[in-house]
Amino acid sequence: MSITKEQVTNALKQVIFFAKANNIVDLGMVYGIEILNNEIKLEVVFEKLDDPAVGIVSNSIEKTLKTEFGDELSVTIKPIAEKELGRGPLAGVKNIIAVISGKGGVGKSTVAANLAVSLAKIGHSVGILDADIMGPSVPIMFGVEDGQPGVMEREGKPIMIPIENHGIKILSLGFFVKSDQALMWRGSMINNAFNQLMKDAEWGNLDFLVIDMPPGTGDIQLTLAQNYNIKGTVLVTTPQKVAVADVRRAAMMYRQDKLEIPLLGIVENMSYFVPDDMPEKKYFIFGKGSSDELSTELNIPILGRIPMVEKVREGGDNGKPISLDQDNPVSKAFMELAKNISDRV
Ligand SMILES: Nc1ncnc2c1ncn2[C@@H]1O[C@H](COP(=O)(O)OP(=O)(O)OP(=O)(O)O)[C@@H](O)[C@H]1O
Ligand SMILES: [Mg+2]
Repeated sequence: MSITKEQVTNALKQVIFFAKANNIVDLGMVYGIEILNNEIKLEVVFEKLDDPAVGIVSNSIEKTLKTEFGDELSVTIKPIAEKELGRGPLAGVKNIIAVISGKGGVGKSTVAANLAVSLAKIGHSVGILDADIMGPSVPIMFGVEDGQPGVMEREGKPIMIPIENHGIKILSLGFFVKSDQALMWRGSMINNAFNQLMKDAEWGNLDFLVIDMPPGTGDIQLTLAQNYNIKGTVLVTTPQKVAVADVRRAAMMYRQDKLEIPLLGIVENMSYFVPDDMPEKKYFIFGKGSSDELSTELNIPILGRIPMVEKVREGGDNGKPISLDQDNPVSKAFMELAKNISDRV
């Protein structure tokens, strides 16, 4: 018996993907049907591969094809993640960059905000997503803490429209939930919220989407690594030995074989202290050398060294990232970081 592609496609229309209440053919999930002697091979696209639907749909495909064309038929199904096809709601986003660290308070949000501003200054279109759902700080750093993102509809679903300020598109759970409420959330709720900020949002066409990650190596880090097409991560550390040790641990998580996310490099924040009244002085109050050791050990570059200056904190607290100013050593350090990253992706 020779089976045609059309017959296979018609048979597959009986397989329903319940989450979307439609059959897998009309949902555009079926790819690359190959009919060999006594075997049918096909690829099926899922939003993410760790979804239980992958197993359920695959079983249902096999059963349906065997019922239709005979039990002796062998069926080979290759599930593919949407991200590999460059489809889905983030298709217009060229480079997703995650700003990570091992420790809290080392300056991830500060680096993410100023990196976003500096990338925009080079001429890129940029968005920033605040993934620190328990302690969102991006709204304050961009002066939009009272912002209310608009809503539009996409395929019958409500979609958030990022707020814009300083030329950057911004989304944070801080716009929707009071942080003391989020503190009581369980892991699955946090993950859902994160996925919504990523996918149920109108990011449009962006050269860079910078993600301000929560500290450490928790659920969100894994969700991000497994389900999104990340161009690379930027590791933020401060010069102290203890901070560097925590960053090393975070780096190792992203380096696991399965995740395959490139570590672009290290940003050493608060590298040295520069007093406002003596701008020519540099005080290495947190020590020197640990970041360089980590750079050698992980075989990744130091992408930037950001001095510790009072104006950095002021800018963050006042909703105007310091990089918006042209002429100061910190802006220059962030500009160099932005150029380094822009060159590398
Ligand atoms: N280079 C710097 N010079 C001066 N102050 C800085 C610098 N970098 C960060 N800060 C200040 O340090 C504090 C912590 O920074 P930030 O919120 O960016 O850290 P974080 O790693 O995002 O923290 P969390 O883990 O809580 O999210 C902020 O008040 C910030 O303004
Ligand atoms: Mg932060």
